[in-house]
Order: sequence, then structure tokens, then C-alpha cells
Amino acid sequence: MAFIPYGKQQLEKDDIDAVVETLQSDYLTTGPKVKEFEDALAAYCGVKYCVAVANGTAALHLASLVLLNKDDKVLTTPNSFLATSNAILYAGAKPIFVDIAEDGNIDLDLCEKALQKDPTIKALYAVAFSGNMVDQVKLKHLKETYHITILEDCAHAMGAKDSDVKAASCTNSDISILSFHPVKHMTTGEGGAITTNSKEMYEQLLTLRGHGMVKTPEMKPWEYEMRELGFNYRITDMQCALGLSQLKKLDTFIARRIQIAKKYDEAFKNTLVKPLYPYNGKSSYHLYVVQVDFSKLKLSKVDLFNKLRDKSIGIQLHYIPINKQPYYKALGYGDESTPVMDNYYEESFSLPMYSSLSPEEQNYVIQQLFKFIKGYM
Ligand SMILES: Cc1ncc(COP(=O)(O)O)c(C=O)c1O
Repeated sequence: MAFIPYGKQQLEKDDIDAVVETLQSDYLTTGPKVKEFEDALAAYCGVKYCVAVANGTAALHLASLVLLNKDDKVLTTPNSFLATSNAILYAGAKPIFVDIAEDGNIDLDLCEKALQKDPTIKALYAVAFSGNMVDQVKLKHLKETYHITILEDCAHAMGAKDSDVKAASCTNSDISILSFHPVKHMTTGEGGAITTNSKEMYEQLLTLRGHGMVKTPEMKPWEYEMRELGFNYRITDMQCALGLSQLKKLDTFIARRIQIAKKYDEAFKNTLVKPLYPYNGKSSYHLYVVQVDFSKLKLSKVDLFNKLRDKSIGIQLHYIPINKQPYYKALGYGDESTPVMDNYYEESFSLPMYSSLSPEEQNYVIQQLFKFIKGYM
């Protein structure tokens, strides 16, 4: 069996043709495809404004410069990729790590307790972990009651929905971010986007993406003014052409992911392998995470990883608690009380999940997983 990673892109001839067409056009970057992609993303997510950028981390960086001030306290989750809380640090602000709930998302009830205890907390960075939307009723309640700034990291959640609320629509948040890394639902190679319903934030984000430069109609033809310290976080027209092509197929990709999730759910019913959450109509399944109580097995998690990787199955762990990373420990983090996250870290791993995963490959993953688990009971 060829190696089966935990995630990968699905590229077809129309995607390649779209990129080649742009390569043969007049603009490789800062051309028409960028705005076209931004408009298409905004329409898909149901949000007013969208700024496409070089990657999801750049999106988080710019969003944080717009949303946060130095020393602001920001509630966030330990269960994410490093980029989420790193962006808080980029802005000179202070992450406060809150434990997760059983579905792997930040525990919003604990966030409320923290906000009641410390009214100086300024913001919440919530991640729709694995593609599972953060509870929008609770998010709305926190925003309205405590007047906090909210960023939704939807890097995992393109196309997800919580009843009527679409991922990255910023219905109950100030800014959302997306990532188009190849393991995500759709790809531009590297790439990301920021969405918002605020015109003011949109304009700030555009300026920050391009070196902090501003050009107005009143200026001389050669003139531009640098008004802020910005960056070159531009995305290219080739990438946006690929993104536009992928976006057309996004709903098909997500439908396939949901089909795969339902098949895993069925296979794991009443077994030692527990899905992090069974199909809930909300998740667009960037990841399919399962939990196994290894204390009931004569097999450690390391052994299982090694055995499955020897069988060409690239299971992965999402995530090591960010607050326990050496860099964060050196800043004084790591001793927060996060019992749910601690247990999650012991028991969880992600199985292969991507739109082109074939039924044969999926059967093979299930069969190999059971083989090792049953053989070591
Ligand atoms: C939750 C989350 N946020 C942000 C990012 C950063 O995105 P990128 O890799 O496009 O910089 C990632 C990347 O995997 C992620 O998983």
C-alpha cells in the first residue's frame, strides 16, 4: 500500500489549467485574480470583506495587529497549531490558556468564568478545532455580555456551519481567518484569508498586507505614503487562480469528507476507538480525531504510531498543548489547570481524512487499526 498521509490536497486538470492560464497572463501577482478570489471567498462565507494573504499565519498576524494592543489579555486554546497563540504574542499581547471541552474546542463556560473573574480580559481567540464550529450561541452571549473582541480561527473549518452561521462569516466575531495549506479542505499551495464585516478593519488589513503603504487619488502619480509598519503578505495571482478553481469544488470535497467520517463513526461504534465527536452536522472535518484509552491496552500510543506508520498509515497528533512548548514554558506558561486537554493529549490521534481517500484505503486504515488494538488487548 502506498503511504496514506493524514491529509492531502485533491488537484485535478481544471485546477492545473487555471494556474497555467494565469501563468500565461500579464499578472503573476497583484493582478485581477486576487480580488476575484477575495470576492468569491466572501460570498461563500457570507461575509462583507475578505483579504487574501500569503498563509494562515500571516492572516493571524495581521488580524492580531488590528484587534489587539500591547499587554492585552487574550483567552485562547492550548489545542491548536502554534500559529494561533503565536499571533497573540506577535502583537505584544498575553495569551491565557483555557482548558478544552469534550469536543476539543475551547471550553466557553470556562471562558465565561475567567471573564467574570477578570474584567480586564480583552479578547478571545477561538479555534474551530478539526472543522467543528465553536458554539455560536455561547460565543454571541460572551460577545454581548462581556464586550470582548473575538477572533475565530477557522483554518480547519472552511465550509462548516452551526445552524445558520457559516464558518468565517464573522456573525459573532470581529475577524475570522482561513488557511489554504494543502492539508486543508481546499488549497492554494500556501495561502490564507482574513474575513470581517468591518470596513474600517478591512481597510487597515489591506494597508498592513502591503507595507503599510497608502495611495490616494489626490496624490501625485508616483506618490505613496507609508503610514504604518506593514509587511509583504501578498498572495500571488497563480495561487488565487488555483483557489478559485478549488472553491468551485469545495462543497463536493466536504461532502466526501463527511461520507468518510460517517464510515469511520460506523466502524468504531461500541469499540475501544472513540470518535472525538460523532457526526454532528456542524463539522466540515478537516481532521477526524479518535481517542483510545491506552491504559486498557498492552500497547502505548508511541507503539501504535510506529506500527501504523510501518504499515504506511500516517496517523498524526493534533495537538501537543501549546502552553507546554519550551518557548511558552520559558515565558512562564505550562502549569495551567487543563485536565481535559491533558487527558485528550494522552488518548487522541488523527486518522487519514481527505477528499480523495479511497474506500479501499479507508477500509485498510480501519482494518490495520483494529488489528493492532485487538492484538494488544
Ligand atoms: C488552527 C490553525 N490556525 C492557523 C494555522 C496556520 O495556517 P498556515 O499553515 O496557512 O500558516 C494552522 C495551520 O495548520 C492551523 O491549523
